[in-house]
Amino acid sequence: MTKKKFRARAFFYPLTTIIAGVDINDKPNFLTIAFCGMFHYKPPMLYISSGKAHYSNQGILENETFSVNFPSVDMVKATDYVGMKSGKEIDKALLFDVFYGELKTAPMINEAPMNHECKLVKVLDFGGTNEIFVGEIIQTYIDEECLVNGKPDIRKIRPILFSGYNNNYLEIGNNIGQAYKIGRDYEKK
Ligand SMILES: Cc1cc2nc3c(=O)[nH]c(=O)nc-3n(C[C@H](O)[C@H](O)[C@H](O)COP(=O)(O)O)c2cc1C
Repeated sequence: MTKKKFRARAFFYPLTTIIAGVDINDKPNFLTIAFCGMFHYKPPMLYISSGKAHYSNQGILENETFSVNFPSVDMVKATDYVGMKSGKEIDKALLFDVFYGELKTAPMINEAPMNHECKLVKVLDFGGTNEIFVGEIIQTYIDEECLVNGKPDIRKIRPILFSGYNNNYLEIGNNIGQAYKIGRDYEKK
């Protein structure tokens, strides 16, 4: 196989598209984030990476809370919208049906099938364009209809995937095997 060099590029596939929720100036604000991920089951922890100029960042720093909401594919237009318009220009507070949980200052989106309520534990700044907010998940909310045998089902949540280099949204495809099982007897051909 011939490899082509692309210089050092942050290509990463697939990205999950989430909507982060923050309280700022006594109102909820929402922004789309694709640079995000989890890195611990115990304690449950995640990060979101947000451009330093974004309106939302101040709210996270002030309250030390934020939410991570997983929109489903039928929320793709709203997801795109909150990713284009800043809370500096428009009021995004009334775009969603909002609820609050235990932390009181992490607004969550009722229409999104899964929500993580997070407490800020660290802010990382590597001198680049973004601040990385590391959060501990203190509660997770999942629509009952998205549970199968008591567990969240990706086909019911229907998350929005994002392909950054050509700005496309996608949905998940087929199952291709069971993890920690399909590779058991693998040998190089
Ligand atoms: C698909 C998509 C993914 C995005 N991912 C990120 C991201 O990972 N980090 C980021 O800082 N901005 C990201 N953005 C841009 C912000 O959501 C956007 O600038 C937003 O208007 C900022 O809102 P605020 O100023 O109200 O905080 C993304 C936008 C879209 C449409």
